[in-house]
Amino acid sequence: MTFSHDSFVKAVRAAASVPDAVQAVRALLKQVLADPDAVAAAVPHQEEDEILLFEDKTVSIWNCRFQPDVVMPPHEHKMTAHIGVFSGAEKNILFRREEGNLRHAATRAVHPGEVFSIGPDGVHAVTADGDRPSQALHVYLGPLTQVKRGLFDWETGAEVDFTMENFDRMKRPADMLPGF
Ligand SMILES: [Fe+2]
Repeated sequence: MTFSHDSFVKAVRAAASVPDAVQAVRALLKQVLADPDAVAAAVPHQEEDEILLFEDKTVSIWNCRFQPDVVMPPHEHKMTAHIGVFSGAEKNILFRREEGNLRHAATRAVHPGEVFSIGPDGVHAVTADGDRPSQALHVYLGPLTQVKRGLFDWETGAEVDFTMENFDRMKRPADMLPGF
């Protein structure tokens, strides 16, 4: 079946409505991304880096493009997130929260066809790995724009509310992040 945002949203909503939605959505993403080039070819050219495709109480669906020279600040989702990459590579910098501090835990580059899942307690920063943008379908098992969630200061780990103002202010140039 040819990929389209509309058919993808329909399929994800169906998968998100079953009892084991976390696994069902992950399996669906794996299936859709079995041919990542076909997804990349079918996705319309986008001006915006991040496009909200759908959101209700059960699921939020985004098409996210990241640039290699900018790193999105550490943040939480407060719900399971599945990241399915179809172009480039998305670099996930994972953190642990320890006594209010942020400790780097791991860095994982997610490549086309792979699905990377982050649990409700996960904290990550994201950018594109390599020298070209990454593109991915992000599916969250809940109403992402409706929940109160945090952003974390790169140095101190201090939490601030997730707002677009804070998010933009806390982005970093990739060359300012040694060791990740
Ligand atoms: Fe995220």
